[in-house]
Amino acid sequence: MESLTEAFRALGDPTRLRILKLIAAARLNVTEVVSLIGVGQSSVSHHLTRLKALDLIREERLGTYTYYSLAADEKAPLWPLIQLARTSEDPHGDAGRLNELLRRREDVQTLNEKLLEPGQSWHLWSAALGSLLPPLDVVDFGCGTGVLTLELARWAKKVTAIDKSEPVLARARAAAEREGLTNIAFLAADLCELPLPSSSADLVVSSQSLHHVEDIAAVLAEGARLLRPNGRLVVLELFPHGEEWVKSRLGHEHLGIEPAVLEAAMRAAGLEPLTQRLPAVKGPQSPFKAFLVTGTRARKPHGKQRAA
Ligand SMILES: C[S@@+](CC[C@H](N)C(=O)[O-])C[C@H]1O[C@@H](n2cnc3c(N)ncnc32)[C@H](O)[C@@H]1O
Repeated sequence: MESLTEAFRALGDPTRLRILKLIAAARLNVTEVVSLIGVGQSSVSHHLTRLKALDLIREERLGTYTYYSLAADEKAPLWPLIQLARTSEDPHGDAGRLNELLRRREDVQTLNEKLLEPGQSWHLWSAALGSLLPPLDVVDFGCGTGVLTLELARWAKKVTAIDKSEPVLARARAAAEREGLTNIAFLAADLCELPLPSSSADLVVSSQSLHHVEDIAAVLAEGARLLRPNGRLVVLELFPHGEEWVKSRLGHEHLGIEPAVLEAAMRAAGLEPLTQRLPAVKGPQSPFKAFLVTGTRARKPHGKQRAA
């Protein structure tokens, strides 16, 4: 009780609340916090020390920098306080500056991978693993700007990349041209009703697209219909989360999908077995955690597929 009172008192300070909100969103060092909130370094250090004393944040040395991240998780007694900080208003626009900082950080990381450490690049690993597969006809559901499409096209026989948005398809097309990939057919269409022949694909991939559509069952039925017998549907989705803002800002229809619900819908579409599920965590504090489910189209077509 005493520690809760003390914590509430500490977070009565608006600057400290801003700092906790930022650290709840991303691991940051002192210089980064200073640049985000525009308060002097000694003051920021003082606030960080207070938050650390309350066991709300922890520090960790990485190279020459000390980084701060959340120390408490959902089970901690002070978690409601962290939730309070996370959902508090952002009158100074800290979130926007944080996004920009993270984007710049990512750019440096990408540059490092591309220019300095090619052996560690996931692009190369993706191509290496893909080269072990036979040449497959692949359909990419909700290809977006084509990041995944391009990786698939490096080893696939052909990729049909589908998205309902013409502007993102244009970006994907331009990226494919830049990379000299000529085995991609781009298609502007609704995943619920596709102008593609049944039993024409070996692999259908849906990466973070299902949470954008209202009628998940209709999309899965289309995926199953397109598959040849023994073809695979691979779905990467987000676990259920509470980030309501993604509906208005990113156009999500669902706040993640319960794996059991997805599996039941895949079974109903005639896809079995569904055994694989790999949780892939984006970052320790990220509310977005992903999982994979794969399903195989039975040799004998399921009711809906038979009719198609
Ligand atoms: C989060 S992006 C996924 C991008 C990509 N698959 C990846 O993993 O990087 C979701 C995409 O699905 C598309 N989408 C959403 N609903 C759709 C629908 N009903 N039909 C076709 N595309 C849709 C959106 O336009 C968006 O580009």
